[in-house]
Amino acid sequence: MCGIIGYVGPREAEPILVEGLRRLEYRGYDSAGVATLTGKKMHLRKKAGRVADLSKFLKDSPAPGTVGISHTRWATHGAATDTNAHPHIGGPNTVAVVHNGVIENYSTLKKQLIDQGVEFHSQTDTEVISHLIAQKLEETDDLVESVRQVLTMLKGTYGLAVVSPKNPEMIVGARLGSPLVIGVGENENFLASDPTALIGCTQRVVYLKDHQLCVITDTDFHIYDEDHEKVSVAVQNIDWDTGDASKGDYEHHMLKEIFEQPEALENALRGRLVDADNTALFGGLNLTNRQLRRAERLILTACGTSYHAGLVGEYLFEEYARMPVEVEYASEFRYRNPPIDQHTICIAITQSGETADTLAALRESKRKGHPTLAICNVVGSTIAREADGGVYLHAGPEVGVASTKAFTSQVTTLAMLALFFGRLRHLSSLQGAKMIEDLRALPDAVRQALKCNDEVKRIAEKYHGVSNMLFMGRQYMYPVALEGALKLKEISYIHAEGYPAAEMKHGPIALVDEETPSIFLTPRGSVFDKVMSNLEEVKARRGPIIAIASEGDARAADYVASKADEVIFVPDVPEYLQPVITSIPLQLLAYHVALLRGCDVDKPRNLAKSVTVE
Ligand code: F6R
Repeated sequence: MCGIIGYVGPREAEPILVEGLRRLEYRGYDSAGVATLTGKKMHLRKKAGRVADLSKFLKDSPAPGTVGISHTRWATHGAATDTNAHPHIGGPNTVAVVHNGVIENYSTLKKQLIDQGVEFHSQTDTEVISHLIAQKLEETDDLVESVRQVLTMLKGTYGLAVVSPKNPEMIVGARLGSPLVIGVGENENFLASDPTALIGCTQRVVYLKDHQLCVITDTDFHIYDEDHEKVSVAVQNIDWDTGDASKGDYEHHMLKEIFEQPEALENALRGRLVDADNTALFGGLNLTNRQLRRAERLILTACGTSYHAGLVGEYLFEEYARMPVEVEYASEFRYRNPPIDQHTICIAITQSGETADTLAALRESKRKGHPTLAICNVVGSTIAREADGGVYLHAGPEVGVASTKAFTSQVTTLAMLALFFGRLRHLSSLQGAKMIEDLRALPDAVRQALKCNDEVKRIAEKYHGVSNMLFMGRQYMYPVALEGALKLKEISYIHAEGYPAAEMKHGPIALVDEETPSIFLTPRGSVFDKVMSNLEEVKARRGPIIAIASEGDARAADYVASKADEVIFVPDVPEYLQPVITSIPLQLLAYHVALLRGCDVDKPRNLAKSVTVE
């Protein structure tokens, strides 16, 4: 997490840095800061709070200079305070450092420095880097050499940017485990944690690899490997459509992104459904049909909402491709050592393509020699670049911290992949044709589903004061129950739990009372009667019930409506696509409840959009 942007060139750095930080705020938003240089003088400004707070502070106290680094923070070590905000200073204003990552041996290094009489000002792990570089600078008088020496002392992960009045013409950067990219301009250069920060600055970039160090000046940049040998690199053009990351006419990014879902799904489906063969086509899998046909097992690995999409994927692959699937939290998978046979493909699912645990799980799978694929939204992200092949979601930028359109695009993409793998195996041409028809109809069904917004808002007004909520579903609806609960808790701070509906009676039913509403996912399908029995069990214990049911389902109209306190109807789609449709009212419910509770919907407390630390 945390966002970094640095600038060196002829222009004033401050406005460029602040604009870059605004773009990076999805990476963390608990404090922000800049350090600029005017020759031998350093100007440090930092503030707890949002980038807007820093910007206000800079109006009264500008940071002059045409060289500078900046940072927006998601706290790991030390609370969100002015002093813990980056940049961190070493020596008597000798060096300023911004850091993304975690220095695991910081307490040992800190103790050594304190024993030497160094005074610390923050509780961060980063500050040790500043003091160590300042010490080395005393000896070497050379910023690049000092940074290089200090890197050998650090254990953990870092994306670093460093400036010093001793070498005021340059920024030194280094990467290990946290992304860093050089933006190449005309007589100016940039250094950022991801290209998003560079929108409007330059489209020419160079991605740093792990263990590389870079030096950028206004007219030049150089990259060095671990042995401090100069590396020649190709400048890439960012030719992707950065999309519209504004809020448009919507009050929040999240609401805009919820309403963008029909178009997001159209983009995910575009050009991928092939009528001639009744299958799906993906340009970037980079594996032959023979290799894919030989795959006997899939491992889907992801975090959070993307993990829930993976759980839907498990049902999809089992049903349509008849393949055994395991879905693993990336944070667990990376440290396990399960026996995985050689015909296994590992698929990482990630919106950002930067999630540290998912990246680590992917790398571990690669290291073991498994073919790896990524289902990813952000083009050019680390996971997209490191996987052997993959599928882009094409959902456009997702700015709201709560993932919405990425989730439904992931599920849709997984359904297409299940079709693809199915058609390599037992799925008939007619079955393939039917799936294509279903998938093509999905964006319009989502358009229809979004019409429940007013009804959901009314329900949110009724229930937004509760302290707990339960979400229940079976089969394809179980991951949706988990996702509905996650959405609600992360933006409204209401305690919410998702369960397979039949598991209720093994413990969680004890939570049911008149103050605890249960959301029951009861669309038409193979387990409708079973879920209704579970619904009755809750009703018998006076728990308020909100049901999500299929339009035109006569049984739902009678039965659900007579038992539930509220019913939200969504379009009737085949069971395997219901996770997409039934997610819509749950996303809207979380949104309206959070809004009514006065929460910051797009930037919920304690969270960041992209989780680039372990
Ligand atoms: C929740 C949410 C997170 C992410 C998770 C993984 O709404 O957005 O749970 O799904 O942090 O992120 P990605 O998909 O970027 O790897």
